[in-house]
Amino acid sequence: MKYENEGHRMSRILDSHQSRIVALIITFITTLLTLSVFFYLSITPSAEFEYQDAEFSINRYTDESSLHGLWGLKRPHLQLEGWKEWIGLSRPRDRAKEARDIRDLSDLFYERFPLDDKRAARGMNRPALERLAHCIETNTCGRDEEKVVLLASFHFNNAITGGTSGEDIWARSTLEALHSLNYTLLYSFGPMDTLTLYQGLQDKVKTIIWEGAELKKCLARNETNWESLENDHTPGTFQNQTAQPRFGCFRRPGFEEGIPPEKSFTFHFWSGPENPLGGEFTLSPEDYKSWNKGVGNHYLGYSLETRCKAIPLPTHKEHRGMALGKYAKYFNTSSRDWVWGKEDILRQAILDMPHSNKGEKFEMIATGGHDDGRTGAHELMYKGIRNMGGLPQDEWYQTVAASKFLLGVGRPLMSPSPYDALCLGVPFINPITWWNREEPEDWSRWITQHDALRPYGPPYVYHVQKENHEQLEEAMKAAMDNPIDRFIPPPMTVKAVRERHRKLVETDWTPSAKAAVRALWTDKGKEFPYLLH
Ligand SMILES: *[C@@H]1O[C@H](CO)[C@@H](O)[C@H](O)[C@H]1NC(C)=O
Ligand SMILES: *[C@@H]1O[C@H](CO)[C@@H](O)[C@H](O)[C@H]1NC(C)=O
Ligand SMILES: *[C@@H]1O[C@H](CO)[C@@H](O)[C@H](O)[C@H]1NC(C)=O
Ligand SMILES: *[C@@H]1O[C@H](CO)[C@@H](O)[C@H](O)[C@H]1NC(C)=O
Repeated sequence: MKYENEGHRMSRILDSHQSRIVALIITFITTLLTLSVFFYLSITPSAEFEYQDAEFSINRYTDESSLHGLWGLKRPHLQLEGWKEWIGLSRPRDRAKEARDIRDLSDLFYERFPLDDKRAARGMNRPALERLAHCIETNTCGRDEEKVVLLASFHFNNAITGGTSGEDIWARSTLEALHSLNYTLLYSFGPMDTLTLYQGLQDKVKTIIWEGAELKKCLARNETNWESLENDHTPGTFQNQTAQPRFGCFRRPGFEEGIPPEKSFTFHFWSGPENPLGGEFTLSPEDYKSWNKGVGNHYLGYSLETRCKAIPLPTHKEHRGMALGKYAKYFNTSSRDWVWGKEDILRQAILDMPHSNKGEKFEMIATGGHDDGRTGAHELMYKGIRNMGGLPQDEWYQTVAASKFLLGVGRPLMSPSPYDALCLGVPFINPITWWNREEPEDWSRWITQHDALRPYGPPYVYHVQKENHEQLEEAMKAAMDNPIDRFIPPPMTVKAVRERHRKLVETDWTPSAKAAVRALWTDKGKEFPYLLH
């Protein structure tokens, strides 16, 4: 009876008009909740793209969360994009049109800046743009492939064509890092080819890495001076060929279509700022900041790990040291830069070195100088040092690796070669050219040939006071008696360098740019002549 009654009451409620409304409301709320949860799930993972720290972001990149698998969606930002389209917040991507625009850009680029033997890297833009167009068209882009980095320094071209300057070596490492991160890389040589690429790709361009002198031309370009800023290989006369010509390059009032300051970084080997936004926008190969009370440029750094590890270490070392420096001018004993005394300190030290336990006589070598045009004899750069002449890169590595130490003679400063040596298991002797007489051991105040190596000591790096015969001999002997294994300073591993490049490209630098405008311009009563986003 009771049950019947209950059932009766129940059906009465369900039948009622009121209850239908209740049911509708419940359904509505449930649906709303479900949708919110879906939407929440779809947008939260995008927070992962905020850079936290190297280790963290590496994990985030390699561990795709189970959620991604569940929805069959590969990437957080694609989920967000998909949802936005689904709920009508954004229009679906017109992939065919995007691809067409990129191919048009490619044609326009080569029309304005034809292929050029002296600028081989330019030829690499077409295949890169075609890959990008194709993967967008077919929705097959790899992770981060749609992020574009513009390489607007000739050092990137040199890196590809075998250049060996410090900047070229740095550029080679930057290319390695950016390639390993899957970014689309495009090469340019001046303001106008860089502008053409930027205008064709807009927001896809995340970062522009500039040669300082080219950035300066870009900053200066306007309607009165544009002709004087032209150069033969990246002419910008196209700006004079429209119905209403507009002349410019950097984004500024009156040229809003210009290259954004907050994405523009300068590739600069030395320690001073070289960008209108100061040190944070000036990339640097060494961590100058770390030894200058936190003041300095943006440490990007480089790695020699890959190319160095490709060289097998010799099983036998010659009983010899090698002098760093490929030009005779570095060995000029009358020059102010020469550190081993006018009085033959180095020659004496060489003569004083003991024989090896196998009885081999000690020898000091150098590689470089000019060869005599007639006889082909290598230039004598220093009496007591055998010059083997300029060596092809591979032989140079073998020669360093088979030596017992590398010795600095004062110049070149901050060369990559001591890092090569360390990575090949060869200690470096670093001359100290200035020290505090009261506290000669306080390395933070030293000036040395290679300041970035000051924090490292024996058995890797021996720091020796300029013109100090005794210290020099001691260091040479200690270096020979204490062989080392390969050594790579931790900030210079491939992995550490890759993470700093990732941070460079993934970070939105607008807040830093705004802070820099205040600190460097407006707070000093100067008007910032360019435009941030
Ligand atoms: C680069 O993209 C490929 C697929 O195109 C992917 O397998 C790889 O993990 C990506 N590398 C990085 C560092 O994201
Ligand atoms: C263009 O820049 C130059 C300085 O490089 C300046 O003297 C000139 O006034 C500028 N012209 C315009 C129209 O702003
Ligand atoms: C720029 O265009 C104007 C008008 O078409 C022309 O008179 C002038 O010669 C052009 N300048 C250059 C450098 O091409
Ligand atoms: C060596 O340096 C001195 C002093 O700077 C200079 O006068 C001289 O010309 C240099 N010698 C060579 C061969 O470069």
